[in-house]
Amino acid sequence: MESTSSIVFVESDRMSQRKKNVIEILRDNPGFVSGQSISDTLGISRNAVHKHVNSLRARGYRILGISRRGYRLEEEPRRLAMPVVAKLTQGCVVARGYRYHAEIESTNVEAKKLAREGAPEGTVVVAECQLAGRGRLGRQWTSPAGKGLLFSVILRPDLPMADAHLLALMTGDAVAEAIEGHVKVPVHLKWPNDLIITNKKAGGILLEISGEQDRVDWIVAGIGINVNVEFSELPVSLRKTATSLKMATEKTVDRSGLLARILLTLERGYTDCLTNGFERPLRHFRERDYLLHRSVSIQTRDGLVIGEAAGIDDRGSLLVELPDRHIRRFHSGDVTLHQ
Ligand code: BTN
Repeated sequence: MESTSSIVFVESDRMSQRKKNVIEILRDNPGFVSGQSISDTLGISRNAVHKHVNSLRARGYRILGISRRGYRLEEEPRRLAMPVVAKLTQGCVVARGYRYHAEIESTNVEAKKLAREGAPEGTVVVAECQLAGRGRLGRQWTSPAGKGLLFSVILRPDLPMADAHLLALMTGDAVAEAIEGHVKVPVHLKWPNDLIITNKKAGGILLEISGEQDRVDWIVAGIGINVNVEFSELPVSLRKTATSLKMATEKTVDRSGLLARILLTLERGYTDCLTNGFERPLRHFRERDYLLHRSVSIQTRDGLVIGEAAGIDDRGSLLVELPDRHIRRFHSGDVTLHQ
């Protein structure tokens, strides 16, 4: 008999009692509640009420505020159906147990802490909202609460350190395949880890690796996808370059079903590459290669390199043809498209 994955609901204590009180008042009064009456009930200033409302909005509560009428709770943040996800993924090596957070700093940071403490392979840290989500190259990853998929999987593959980064390409391909199956839109991969839909970034992967003496100890594969994010919810600076599955399909996407599908696809990709190597995921990655034959520039420690993307080699490095026809390999870096 297959065992069912366990789910630990790690309730967030981070929301202050005051914010919980503000929400309770708004829930109990379906119409508008004036800022003054909230401030009188809780014995706090109107300014403090305003700050709590703004911070609740950042946590996914849709609260309408109209001057001289007050605040009205329009919608509470959506929650993933974790028991459904656990049932669909039962028996998966990559999803043996879930730790669900309504809110967390970063699922990658939490998963790394758990990995260092000895958490087993297949521990999945999931959150509805991250307060300090991390992207590649020290960037931030932001997502409105309850609208994206934000999760990190602890893996403990029996691999040399030199091969560990190839799991990032396998993960990218698995996530792309799952999204395509779920929402029926083509997904491309921009080396090394960006998920591209309709020429814009819809998600990314942050792989963090720890090992000793040439063996991997643990890997945390952090996956962030803009699922039901609306255009207006994207940071202004990202509106030209980012998208979401909802924006691409004009349909609200079932996040729980997608999470389960990604983990099932990851399970296949992971177990396959541990047995058969990375030839298959590399071939699939090449089929989704967004950069191929495009003019690119890559920031390296020695400066900017400009050329034409010429594919991915057998070690997962990006090949770039330079203006003098030489091919240069990049193991890591930040690639910008020129067309
Ligand atoms: C990138 O494109 O730069 C990678 C983004 C990875 C974001 C995900 S969201 C879940 C996990 N937790 C984090 O803090 N980051 C990753």
